[in-house]
Amino acid sequence: MGWTKQFFNSSIGKKFAMALSALFLLIFLLQHFAINVTSVFSEATFNGISHFMGTNPLIQFVIQPILLFGIVFHFVMGFVLEFKNKNSREVNYAMNKGSANSSWMSRNMIYSGLVILLFMGVHFYDFWIPELTFKYVEINPSDPNRYHHELLEKFHDPIRVGIYCLAFILLALHLLHGFQSSFQSMGVNHRKYTPTIRKLGNAYAILIPFGFIFIALFHYINSL
Ligand code: HEM
Repeated sequence: MGWTKQFFNSSIGKKFAMALSALFLLIFLLQHFAINVTSVFSEATFNGISHFMGTNPLIQFVIQPILLFGIVFHFVMGFVLEFKNKNSREVNYAMNKGSANSSWMSRNMIYSGLVILLFMGVHFYDFWIPELTFKYVEINPSDPNRYHHELLEKFHDPIRVGIYCLAFILLALHLLHGFQSSFQSMGVNHRKYTPTIRKLGNAYAILIPFGFIFIALFHYINSL
């Protein structure tokens, strides 16, 4: 076991673990978008999928706890690595004009990450906590047709929709650097594959967050 502990105590190991949690969250976000975009096209499909996900024991008691661990791990490790880097960056900055070598997105990952974290707080308050309360606190009788209606309720309020859309723009900026840098931290760095990963990353970083903006604005405009 010694070498694993040694590896994850090293900064390369921490970056590797950070990239692993990032890839897990990228997969979560893709499935989360795929589920929520059905709310635009078909009430029955959205209710069907949400009820399956909301009542499936494997998803509720295995995958969801792993997801929450992945989210907490990603944010905590993000802060740990940022403060470690911050100290070393201050030394380097004088030597090689840091801004010349890195993008705005890469230098501000901690700030875009913080906005996403604040969004998660609002989002959990809006969706996840009511869901847990409905099922495990109030123990209401199961209603497979309630999800679409509950979702539409949240998109009447222009302030909430504005906060969501702003958070999704910062999510796009976070992913524009985060997607490809997580592959680099995993050691996937090859002149044959890296250009494709970069293109895929840019497409993901634009399409998924702006897809979420489309969902939020679609429901808001329809609620007017
Ligand atoms: C318009 C965009 C979005 C909609 C309509 C939406 C909708 C929902 C709904 C209905 C739930 C409750 C699911 C349940 O547990 O029954 C949920 C949970 C959650 N959402 Fe979102 N979401 C959106 C965007 C996002 C984004 C951008 C993120 C991440 C940055 C995110 C992260 C989560 C997480 C982590 C949970 C709790 C775990 C889960 O239950 O799946 N959501 N969302």
